[in-house]
Amino acid sequence: MSRLLCLAVALSCTLDARAGTLPSFLRACSASDPNLSQCVEKVIAVGGGKFAKGIPELGIASLDPVHLGRVVVDNPALKLTFDDTVVTGLGGFVVNSYKIDTEKGKATLDFTANVTLKAHYDMDGQVLILPIRGNGEAKIKITNLNIVIKYDYKTVDGYWTVTGYKDSYNMDRAQFKFTNLFNGNKELASTINRVINDNWEPVIRDIAPVAFETIISACVNEAKKLFAAVPADRLLLP
Ligand SMILES: *[C@@H]1O[C@H](CO)[C@@H](O)[C@H](O)[C@H]1NC(C)=O
Ligand SMILES: *[C@@H]1O[C@H](CO)[C@@H](O)[C@H](O)[C@H]1NC(C)=O
Repeated sequence: MSRLLCLAVALSCTLDARAGTLPSFLRACSASDPNLSQCVEKVIAVGGGKFAKGIPELGIASLDPVHLGRVVVDNPALKLTFDDTVVTGLGGFVVNSYKIDTEKGKATLDFTANVTLKAHYDMDGQVLILPIRGNGEAKIKITNLNIVIKYDYKTVDGYWTVTGYKDSYNMDRAQFKFTNLFNGNKELASTINRVINDNWEPVIRDIAPVAFETIISACVNEAKKLFAAVPADRLLLP
């Protein structure tokens, strides 16, 4: 019994120690660094891929893959639901820039990744004024998805709290593959698959905004968990 208690105490101490500590693959920059933004940018570039795998001891979930569950597309012309949505590729991101203003409590992260969304889909309605209907597997490949997140933060009780964020995104290309369109009618399916791929830009605008917002909010939420777990003065040395 006492051995068990010892073990429990030792274990909880280890967990506590880890809980407040920055993971070793994320180096803390110093607030007095004249090139602070560049320092943080480098930390994100070096450690971000590992961060994206999740940090279970800090309660930080994986961003690659990231499980988004059900995503309901909000479009009056089209009923479309993605289920068991999984996005891969975020961990292979490239940082374009990072800027932080510690006086104002503002920061901007700009990054690019090649991502693939896979889900079970169910849709009925119109895309590009063409009727589309089906129920099967969906795969959407996005080349060079560029995401810019501008967030505000403040220090509350020694921890950074994100008080709000704005985002924007862009991409070079989207490729769609929907299996079992029109109940498996091959001719109709291959025609519509071709048309939506030839016109990927309006199609992605019609069907994907909610998916992108969900991806971005997952990124922000995991960063918030890091800020909630590690004191501000360990994230950014005085
Ligand atoms: C800080 O950045 C400036 C401009 O990018 C550069 O000229 C300078 O060498 C950098 N200083 C340090 C200490 O890295
Ligand atoms: C995405 O893939 C393309 C090639 O398909 C490549 O040129 C580009 O560098 C990749 N982007 C990133 C952020 O890895």
